Amino acid sequence: MKAVIFDLDGVITDTAEFHFQAWRNMANSIHIDFDREFNEELKGISRMDSLNKILDYGGVIDNYSDEQKEELADSKNNEYVSLLSELKPEHIYPGIKKLLDALKENDIKIGLASASKNGPTILDRLGITNYFDVIVNPALIENGKPAPDIFLKAALDLGVTPEECIGIEDAEAGIKAIKDANMFAVGVGTVDVMKKAGADIVLENTKELVFSSLLDAFKQTSPL
Ligand code: BG6
Ligand code: MG
Repeated sequence: MKAVIFDLDGVITDTAEFHFQAWRNMANSIHIDFDREFNEELKGISRMDSLNKILDYGGVIDNYSDEQKEELADSKNNEYVSLLSELKPEHIYPGIKKLLDALKENDIKIGLASASKNGPTILDRLGITNYFDVIVNPALIENGKPAPDIFLKAALDLGVTPEECIGIEDAEAGIKAIKDANMFAVGVGTVDVMKKAGADIVLENTKELVFSSLLDAFKQTSPL
């Protein structure tokens, strides 16, 4: 194992919840409502893909021009960014800082493969930017998750092969992306959902993201 590539929202901190709140408020403003089950489909995918899914779910996708969609996406992002102003280092999920320290101590490279254009701001607010050897810019990736492209780009920029990487994700689309990239997939979340998506191991809480356990699990399935 030479690198660990992290998703951000819902893995490093609880911003997945902020996305949910901001999308639901935007949807309610145009008389669409959705629940947490539908929200699972929005996790990991880009801002515009999320909006299109919501409009499709509400049966109104053909009623909006590209310009109106931009306005809706902007209004969601404005609310989301204002929620981010509350974010502090104490909001890093349990176990993450310890894992980042252990990875550094063991010379394992660290990458970020988040679909979020707000990723760099979030890492700064949490005070952990310096841990990351590579932060992939999602704006430069043509095919978003579940396509493997963002994880493959992270590996390429880190100078390692995909088979030498562990990817960590909380979204179905993200687990599929990791597996299609030929990496070892660690799912954080509900066992059934993550297993169905193809996760190699599933942890219900980031507290369980312990370096030695990850290494053991990786070694069991990979000769590298
Ligand atoms: C992903 C989130 O990390 O980033 C999605 O899981 C979100 O919910 C996507 O839509 C894009 O984020 P942003 O901040 O660029 O709108
Ligand atoms: Mg996520």
